[in-house]
Amino acid sequence: MTDPRLDNRVLGLYVHFPWCIKKCPYCDFNSHPLKDNTDQEAYLQALRKDWQQQYKAFAAQRLAQTPSQQFNSVFFGGGTPSLFRPELLQQLLSEIPHQGAEVTLEVNPGTAEYYGFSDYREAGINRLSIGAQSFADPQLAALGRVHCADETRQAYARARQAGFSNINIDLMWGLPGQSVEAALADLRQAIALQPEHISWYQLTIEAKTEFALRPPILPKDALLQEIEEAGLALLAAAGWQRYEVSAFAKPGKQCQHNLTYWSFGDYLGIGAGAHGKFSRDAKLLRTQRRTQPRLYQQDPCNGEPVSVVPDQLALEFMMNALRLIDGVSQDTFAERTHITWSSIEPIWQGLAEQGLVTTDRCATTALGLRYLDSVLERFL
Ligand SMILES: C[S@@+](CC[C@H](N)C(=O)[O-])C[C@H]1O[C@@H](n2cnc3c(N)ncnc32)[C@H](O)[C@@H]1O
Ligand code: SF4
Repeated sequence: MTDPRLDNRVLGLYVHFPWCIKKCPYCDFNSHPLKDNTDQEAYLQALRKDWQQQYKAFAAQRLAQTPSQQFNSVFFGGGTPSLFRPELLQQLLSEIPHQGAEVTLEVNPGTAEYYGFSDYREAGINRLSIGAQSFADPQLAALGRVHCADETRQAYARARQAGFSNINIDLMWGLPGQSVEAALADLRQAIALQPEHISWYQLTIEAKTEFALRPPILPKDALLQEIEEAGLALLAAAGWQRYEVSAFAKPGKQCQHNLTYWSFGDYLGIGAGAHGKFSRDAKLLRTQRRTQPRLYQQDPCNGEPVSVVPDQLALEFMMNALRLIDGVSQDTFAERTHITWSSIEPIWQGLAEQGLVTTDRCATTALGLRYLDSVLERFL
């Protein structure tokens, strides 16, 4: 599979499914409680309209110029797309040129009984991302999850039985009342399952969530640092390579779709609230769909693309690329922003003198990664 960091023509497709069984108190993703009368067929028809319009507007011309080019990745995210019937995903996939692509489905273990993993595989999904979050049942309850740790393990086992050979496990750390030992115990249990990929996110309190209104007691900074250092050492010793701030992979198993985001490649975003980014004629366009599922379904193509002002481009690029442990080449910066490297050279030089970035690539040092926010501020 092509490494998006090396291929300037990389193209991803994000498909958003905006419903969940129940809203988790920490989550600010565009997700709404699923109702009995949610019409999946109607949502599929809206997605198809959205896809056809965006394909024509952005991708058709580029794909016609380079006939070998296909979508490198398709990502069904949410919300909880594992509430979506497999045959509906298949119908949508049949319209998308994506031969050889990584096709991911986010799975909440609480929905693993709904549809068979074999059906998702037959529908064309070849990678699963399972939202474990923790393996401690009291912690899962505190996080408002609809599943227990055993259900996560069962979902994982069934996914393997169905033949999935590329699985990510999402875990969070810095959880309410969490000790270093408890965070490491979560990681050990994820490691014991031997997934190809682990995402290890620090819990953040997002505005307008239930946790923002009624904040739980989180570990203090010194403890957070201890958890982070011990967790990174454990993952490295067990053979998962850190390639992005929160992403760890077995060799060759990095998430291609997320690499497209982090390397500032192009992607279309369809579905309620979905974002897209596309470069055309040295301009960068961003799209966003209506977030309310009902309004989105009424008019799935609503919303004109907005051009990113050139002043913003360097910052936007760095906010993505500097999350990658190896960064990207300096040529990639020029290719994907249409700004010359020499125009940011003075800022870069200043950062390099402070030991925060490397001189040969567009990448932070270990110190720069630790103070990433300060590095990014220079591009404001
Ligand atoms: C959009 S969710 C999709 C997964 C699926 N809906 C689930 O929860 O099982 C993607 C991941 O983001 C992470 N996440 C969501 N909110 C977070 C927060 N406030 N802080 C840190 N990680 C968060 C969780 O690990 C979650 O699995
Ligand atoms: S299941 Fe996932 S997307 Fe849905 S509310 Fe919980 S964290 Fe957010």
